Amino acid sequence: MKKITLILLLIFNQNFNLIAQNPLFIPPTMSGSDFQLTLQTGTTEFFPGHQTATYGVNGNLLGPTLIFQKGDTVQMHVTNQLGQTTTIHWHGMHVSSVNDGGPHIMIQPGETWEPRFPVLNNASTMWYHPHLHEFTEEHVAKGIAGMIIIKDNAEAQLNLPRTYGVDDIPVIVQTKDFDNNYQIIPDSNSDDVLMVNGTIQPYVDLPAQVVRLRLLNGSSQRVFNFGLSNNQNFYLIGTDGGLLDVPYSMTRLPLSPGERAEILIDLTGMQNQTVYLMSYASELGAGIYGSSSPGMNPNMTLNGYNPNPLNGTDFNILQINVTQPTSQPVTSIPSTLVNITPLDQANADQQRTFTLRPVTMGINQLNGDFTINGVSFDMNTINVTIPLNNLEVWTVTNNSAIAHPFHVHDIQYQIISINGNTNLPDYAKGWHDTFLVPAGGGSIQFITEFKDFANDSIPYMYHCHMLRHEDGGMMGAFTVVDNNTGVEENATQNDFLFPNPASGYYITLQLGDNTEVIKSYTIINTAGQMVYHNLLDPNEWNYMLSIPVGQLSKGTYILKAYTNRRIVSKTFLKN
Ligand code: C2O
Ligand code: CU
Ligand code: CU
Repeated sequence: MKKITLILLLIFNQNFNLIAQNPLFIPPTMSGSDFQLTLQTGTTEFFPGHQTATYGVNGNLLGPTLIFQKGDTVQMHVTNQLGQTTTIHWHGMHVSSVNDGGPHIMIQPGETWEPRFPVLNNASTMWYHPHLHEFTEEHVAKGIAGMIIIKDNAEAQLNLPRTYGVDDIPVIVQTKDFDNNYQIIPDSNSDDVLMVNGTIQPYVDLPAQVVRLRLLNGSSQRVFNFGLSNNQNFYLIGTDGGLLDVPYSMTRLPLSPGERAEILIDLTGMQNQTVYLMSYASELGAGIYGSSSPGMNPNMTLNGYNPNPLNGTDFNILQINVTQPTSQPVTSIPSTLVNITPLDQANADQQRTFTLRPVTMGINQLNGDFTINGVSFDMNTINVTIPLNNLEVWTVTNNSAIAHPFHVHDIQYQIISINGNTNLPDYAKGWHDTFLVPAGGGSIQFITEFKDFANDSIPYMYHCHMLRHEDGGMMGAFTVVDNNTGVEENATQNDFLFPNPASGYYITLQLGDNTEVIKSYTIINTAGQMVYHNLLDPNEWNYMLSIPVGQLSKGTYILKAYTNRRIVSKTFLKN
């Protein structure tokens, strides 16, 4: 939206700072163990006197900050009033795949989705957002996203700022594109309007003491290179998966879409000063969205990318007005944080490689779709099957001209190397679920463990977190399977599978309770291989289901049915 950006810049340059600056919106919090989230349509006045159609959670834009306590079990109620199908994914959280809210766990218009899960992650900053295949970008860009703050005892024992909205501030940074009628243009490479927590040209008053910012790059594509306008150092205390071992002092912190970071800034003695949180995007190298050249080769174009005052220049993100200290300020940076046990590559059960590649080569490749291991995402394909409790080393190589942030659901990973170099920058330490894979043959290697949750029918996702790429198919599905599960797990004597042996085209599963519904099922052979799986449409969900077995060769099989309450396993014979 060139016109409006220009006007804002003019106002700013003429020093009408008080007119141009808006108080930073701080999303309200919700806590406890029962959460009602209503996804709704509304309008937001980003530009004075102009209404923009937006989506929000319990409001017009963005969503409340959810505060979870590690160890609690939370019951979510997610009501979809958007008038269209969507999903809600708890990005970064270790939950079962049915509770994860990926593309397969759709919430139909008018429906309420009720996942219930234990909070297993350490103290950290997570987020939630829609994940409907091909519509993730649109639903996020129009406004659905919210922060999750997880608390735990280890964090509570540290002398850290933790008064929400006072010295502990959510900072959701996004760029969007608007048309001349002030409406959001989804899926655009012309994202020239910057906002924090939905506020354009924001300022925040922060006390002259140590403050904590929870940074979330909630942009659809843009990478930021955070720093302060006076170049004072700040301290990285947490990455995606939680606190680091010690605070790391730095002046720059790159963050790609989907990533979070917790930083401490020492504002002691700076009362009445103004400092800006900035992005030093001029320092981002070629091949990164946000630099002057999104492709490695400067001749490669991205439709609509330039001109854009945010590309390759240094710009302000958030004005910080330093005010008087609070009555009980945090005035020092802790010397240590938490223990992080390094996962040992020598014990890895499996190595896997993932190659990111454009569909079209040549000068237009940045605009084209991208694949992982040569294939595009397919709702009915499981790309990778991982045994429960596996310790795995993944190498992700990027054979495209643009860097892609690689995100994995279910787990947090420890980075081993970047471009083969094990001498990591400080911001790559700790736990991550999303990290930028450098362009032009660059790579990252990481180690992770797949624990606690197995389900061989409903997958988790791995994907590029540039939402346009994700929607374009740069995503894969993986299941975590428990090869040791019992044969007749969870079945009751009131659940019937008939006829058994099956000699015709169908076998029928009937559950004992007609209020329970079968949502998906898998057929596994005696070698433990999945021979068939089927995700049912919500209009097919029922307590009774006819399952096609005409194609199966003779032998013994296990049927695993995933209901809204349990996994029912039953053995049958095919004649
Ligand atoms: Cu933040 Cu699969 O997503
Ligand atoms: Cu995720
Ligand atoms: Cu990508």
